[in-house]
Amino acid sequence: MRILFIGDIVGRTGREAVASALPRLRETLRIDLAVVNAENASHGFGLSPDQAAALFAAGADVITLGNHAWDRKEIIPYIADTPRLLRALNFPAGTPGGGSVVVEATGGRRALVFQAMGRLYMDPLDCPFRTTAELLSKHRLGGTVAAIVADFHAEASSEKMAFAHFLDGQVSAVIGTHTHCPSADAQVLPGGTAFQSDAGMSGDYDSVIGMAKDAATLRFWRKLPGERLAPAEGEATVCGAFIETDDATGLARRIAPVRVGGRLAEAMPTG
Ligand SMILES: [Fe+2]
Ligand SMILES: [Fe+2]
Repeated sequence: MRILFIGDIVGRTGREAVASALPRLRETLRIDLAVVNAENASHGFGLSPDQAAALFAAGADVITLGNHAWDRKEIIPYIADTPRLLRALNFPAGTPGGGSVVVEATGGRRALVFQAMGRLYMDPLDCPFRTTAELLSKHRLGGTVAAIVADFHAEASSEKMAFAHFLDGQVSAVIGTHTHCPSADAQVLPGGTAFQSDAGMSGDYDSVIGMAKDAATLRFWRKLPGERLAPAEGEATVCGAFIETDDATGLARRIAPVRVGGRLAEAMPTG
């Protein structure tokens, strides 16, 4: 299965870049399953139902959120009716929406996609490791599902690496989100799980993690309340990862970074 994962869409520039790049990437890379993180799509904070619908229409099979899941309150009733929009599975029991979904990819192949959130330098949630183990006890890679893709939304690379090794051999890919910087550590782990500790954001990189640099910079060196943070509005780089899996085992054959447009050097998988 050929899988595209796109990292945190930030603001209008990120939304527009993904809406125009996603259909092209689906075609050029012959994508069977596309997963898009959109927790910052709405002016940097949350995702509105209209924006979610536009991303689905542009070719996202599954949309994931993160710590900004609830910044746009209108998403709460919408997520309850939209199984392909995911919040982290380790929110407390009773939280609206779901943390995992089984979708049909090209050719009728079934894929499990889920999101878990880290706890280091993040809000305390249920244990992502135990919650994930419980989810995976209900699915079998290469059996009930042909692929399993995990979005691990976390601040610390250490927790992301630990999470990936914890799952190595049990899932097709663990892709990190949340830091908004693409990491150069994409690899297939020894057990066959593809891993990249952060996909990077889809936003303007002439910024502080996607936000306009003046207000964001002032916050650090002057300890006074300042301007509200707003997304930077220059051309976005669409960032993510391409993963190819073996249908029989569900394990990864390869992973390669994807970067298109904007300020970052382009990266495009071949073959
Ligand atoms: Fe984010
Ligand atoms: Fe986040």
